[in-house]
Amino acid sequence: MTTYLMTGCAGFIGSNMVLYMLKKYTDIRIVNLDALTYAGNMENLKEAADDDRHIFVHGNICDRPLVSRLLAEYDPDVVINFAAESHVDRSIADPMIFVNTNVCGTVNLLQCCKEAWYDPEQRSWKKGRKYLQVSTDEVYGALGAEGFFTEKSPTDPHSPYSSSKASADHFVKAFHDTYGMPVNITRCSNNYGRFQFVEKLIPLMIFNAKNHRPLPVYGDGMQIRDWLYVEDHCKAIDMVASGGRSGEIYNIGGHNERTNIFIVKTVIDQLSRRLGDPEINEGLIRHVEDRPGHDRRYGIDPGKIKADLGWYPETTFEVGIVKTIDWYLGNPEWTEHVTSGAYQQYYAEMYGNRKEI
Ligand SMILES: NC(=O)c1ccc[n+]([C@@H]2O[C@H](COP(=O)([O-])OP(=O)(O)OC[C@H]3O[C@@H](n4cnc5c(N)ncnc54)[C@H](O)[C@@H]3O)[C@@H](O)[C@H]2O)c1
Repeated sequence: MTTYLMTGCAGFIGSNMVLYMLKKYTDIRIVNLDALTYAGNMENLKEAADDDRHIFVHGNICDRPLVSRLLAEYDPDVVINFAAESHVDRSIADPMIFVNTNVCGTVNLLQCCKEAWYDPEQRSWKKGRKYLQVSTDEVYGALGAEGFFTEKSPTDPHSPYSSSKASADHFVKAFHDTYGMPVNITRCSNNYGRFQFVEKLIPLMIFNAKNHRPLPVYGDGMQIRDWLYVEDHCKAIDMVASGGRSGEIYNIGGHNERTNIFIVKTVIDQLSRRLGDPEINEGLIRHVEDRPGHDRRYGIDPGKIKADLGWYPETTFEVGIVKTIDWYLGNPEWTEHVTSGAYQQYYAEMYGNRKEI
């Protein structure tokens, strides 16, 4: 049996990962450590509620005694760190919490793993153990019109979010280079799919358009992102966890670059047709003041993970976006729960005073 300690798996990608792994494998156990911040949602894990291969622990990755206890009690083969503050706009408003969770939390996990797995007298690591850091293409900064990020591209982050993720990546590499710790880092492009919190572009547009609310688009909307369906990301992480060479970084992306405005118009088109609602139209789009430091283009070269591990994305954008819209339309109570209370205040703070351009 393989035991995983996965952190942050009540959030968007982590919860998809838990369900993906439980479906794919029988002989596994997943300990899921999550602080249940605004982004963590136990409703995402409903399908795993009665599955005793999934053990949920409510707690913080910065809590050293707790992480050490979990490592001693469950002796995981693989630790996968999804836990993070993940929204760029929130990082611009309040960078410190990004430093605490994304940087200090990562270093705490690394330190606890080292204590559990390293024998200083023998100078050896427990066999078969691995730490996998889930990172992002945003650590590379912005691309011009040409070219792609490879694993050799220098890190050049611009937002407090991407800076905190890049910093964490450097610590992971340092634990490998300094102590010989078995690690991998994955850097994925923008994900979309079920369970994504309604602050991110695609679910925000679905929620607002469905309710005939204005659709705020930053600047000219020509920022380019490389979109990957979340299950394809889960598949890649699983492959890196089991087959990635120690110390290596793997970029994950599906060569699916789209402008933000294209995404918004696609959501409008799909939703209006599905709901037969002509009030959902491009007249809802509002171009608003751009996010400061907004990177213009991200684009991933996934050649290494394809060549080394045989990974490829299975879901095209055309199929994935329909599946995603269908999921949000089919689960209105999920959206209702996450958009009540604190979300309203967040939305007013983020978009209330943003000038239309
Ligand atoms: N969403 C994307 O498009 C994308 C793309 C590439 C990489 N990533 C990375 O993937 C990971 C997961 O992203 P996501 O979109 O699922 O994020 P998310 O914001 O949806 O979920 C984050 C989860 O981490 C938990 N968490 C936050 N702080 C914690 C702490 N201190 N201790 C324990 N748990 C804590 C939250 O409760 C939540 O469940 C992040 O590391 C992110 O940087 C995301």
